[in-house]
Amino acid sequence: MHVTIVTLFPEYFDSVMSTALMAKALERGVVRVDFVDPRDFAEDRHRTVDDKPYGGGPGMVMRPDVVGRALESVESPGLMVQLTPRGRPLDQSLARDLAAAGRLTLVCGRYEGIDARVEAAWDLLNVSVGDFVLSGGEAAALCLLEATARLTPGFMGHEDSGEEESFSAGLLEYPQYTRPEEWNGRRVPRVLTSGDHGRIQAWRREESLRQTLARRPDLLQGAGLDRGDVEALRRIARHRLGRGLWLCLVHWPVLLKDGRPGAVSLTNLDIHDMSRVSRSYGLAGVVVVQPLADQRELLDSLLAHWREGAGARANPDRAEALSLVRGASTLEEAVAYVTEQTGVRPGIAATTARGAGDTAWVEVRQWLERGPVLLLAGTGHGLAPEVLDAADGVLRPLRYMDGYNHMPVRSAVAIALDRILGDAY
Ligand code: ADE
Repeated sequence: MHVTIVTLFPEYFDSVMSTALMAKALERGVVRVDFVDPRDFAEDRHRTVDDKPYGGGPGMVMRPDVVGRALESVESPGLMVQLTPRGRPLDQSLARDLAAAGRLTLVCGRYEGIDARVEAAWDLLNVSVGDFVLSGGEAAALCLLEATARLTPGFMGHEDSGEEESFSAGLLEYPQYTRPEEWNGRRVPRVLTSGDHGRIQAWRREESLRQTLARRPDLLQGAGLDRGDVEALRRIARHRLGRGLWLCLVHWPVLLKDGRPGAVSLTNLDIHDMSRVSRSYGLAGVVVVQPLADQRELLDSLLAHWREGAGARANPDRAEALSLVRGASTLEEAVAYVTEQTGVRPGIAATTARGAGDTAWVEVRQWLERGPVLLLAGTGHGLAPEVLDAADGVLRPLRYMDGYNHMPVRSAVAIALDRILGDAY
């Protein structure tokens, strides 16, 4: 692999180049690294490389003419990468692609970055090492250099270790242990000293799944999982945030067709579908707020039919889902019920398609880490303004960047639960 690093601070890389595996790889010619300093391409007496930003603002911007000349000086630059927090996040799959390219030029900005015309003129691939801001691209280039160099054949002592670790299979790595077998009262897991390689492999895979589920459940989507993995995941006890989540389907006060607040009647399909979705996502319960006496009676007989009557005998799954549901006459009664069940007043998150909300969906997940949450969904033309005013947060419409947001409430609730809990919680 041959890497050229364009940087104002080549000395920044000294210790890495003379340490451990990287030093050996350079010595053996497995990796070649050279440097281009843009300051060598400045044309004034002070070797100026930067200037004030057009439009004002703090800091300085690296000049396109100076950086451009520095880039032109690189012979056969290969894939050209600019390290910037605005870039594509560096992950193992990108590291693999960059390593496979074999020839890279890494461009490190300093100050407020490099004039944007350089990026356009050279078609640089922007890469970021995380959602934080470093003082320059050098530390990020080091990460990229190390992540790609270790995938180069001959870099590691044993060929396969670069690909055996965290992220290679899309999962976090299993925990590692070494001697002593017992340390401060903590023993190495017995399976690892059993000598049974089949069991060790199985244990390691399950630990990888366990660690990934606990720390980075987002990775599971892209990981190559087989049937055995999925069964193992099912067996692992996990933090089920849904257990603290209650859904409240509000029939009053909601907006009517004419824009005034009022009460609307039940929709059988809503009760069925929402309870099934709530059961699937492991919710604590569903409260149906309905003040109209005849509608409450309807709810009670519907629930009785499916929970205890002929419906339950014919369809036990439906009975299980509908057993989550209970009625309440008012929103206050629903809140009091959840408070009584959990011992804490729930955080109240209201939904609306009308654009009034500014609470992000991910915030509800954060609330759930702290305590129970009651998610309000309005029937009719949506929750009345007084309900939104009294809530602890009003969520953004599900499609807040689009104009059309008119989904049936049961569809909106299904999407909302998936957005809050996904498939991991
Ligand atoms: N330069 C400054 N911050 C950076 C980051 N997070 N990733 C890549 N380059 C950077």
